[in-house]
Amino acid sequence: MKLEIKDLRVSYGGIRALKGVNLTVDEGSIVTLIGANGAGKSTTLRAISGLLKPEDGQITYNGESMAGLPAKEIVKRGVVMVPEGRRVFPDMTVRENLLIGAYLRSDRAGIDKDLKYVMELFPRLSERTWQLAGTLSGGEQQMLAVGRALMAKPKLLMMDEPSLGLAPLVVKDIFSIIRRVNQDGITVLLIEQNANASLRVADYGYVLETGSIVLEGQGRALLENPSIQEAYLGHRKSAMPTSGKASSEGRPGKHGRRYEVSMNSD
Ligand SMILES: Nc1ncnc2c1ncn2[C@@H]1O[C@H](COP(=O)(O)OP(=O)(O)OP(=O)(O)O)[C@@H](O)[C@H]1O
Ligand SMILES: [Mg+2]
Repeated sequence: MKLEIKDLRVSYGGIRALKGVNLTVDEGSIVTLIGANGAGKSTTLRAISGLLKPEDGQITYNGESMAGLPAKEIVKRGVVMVPEGRRVFPDMTVRENLLIGAYLRSDRAGIDKDLKYVMELFPRLSERTWQLAGTLSGGEQQMLAVGRALMAKPKLLMMDEPSLGLAPLVVKDIFSIIRRVNQDGITVLLIEQNANASLRVADYGYVLETGSIVLEGQGRALLENPSIQEAYLGHRKSAMPTSGKASSEGRPGKHGRRYEVSMNSD
């Protein structure tokens, strides 16, 4: 159950947003895609989810091509996205929002079981099942958006900036939930601007810059990489070289340098 993306290109009306993205998400792992505003993170997720038609490239899941499939078929295969900006249905209750997540399923017993799982995962939601989603706090709405995606029974859960705009304590909650669902067997592809938290939780990370992957490596190794620290973690440039350890496999891309980063110590 591996997700593999090769040479993914997406354009919006002639303007290329993804210029040949390659990334792999192994079963059972947490992989993060980080990058600044406009880098193409959401575009990548929308293309995987079938909401955008790629111009070129391959998206395979479990060895089967998904590029060009309708979004519904992709959800049926277990690849489910939590969209950017929460997007809950404000005039529906918490419970109704959750059940919408299960709209492609007909296994009643399984749906009930997953509803219990979500309630256990998010006690705040279980206290508010009859509350209208539009009246929930921002953090609660984000939990509901994650809960709704879980109700689709994902094998691969993709989250688009789940921590955006949330207070530090709630961010902590969201990241511990990400760890927990991963431990429960769900593979995670996490998009974040919060590079620090996401690289800490991730097994592997990719850095996207204006539509190209410019850096990749183990989460911890990226965290210690000086160019990441400077660009994404707000650390000042030191006397150290700013580049990652360029391995012999790191091939220079058309739009910039590409490095493979490895951990040199633990
Ligand atoms: N529907 C659209 N029409 C035209 N251009 C778009 C559209 N959606 C995104 N873009 C452009 O594609 C590029 C990548 O956008 P994308 O939303 O994927 O970035 P992002 O990495 O998710 O950024 P952010 O962190 O701000 O959410 C940007 O230059 C953006 O302006
Ligand atoms: Mg985005």
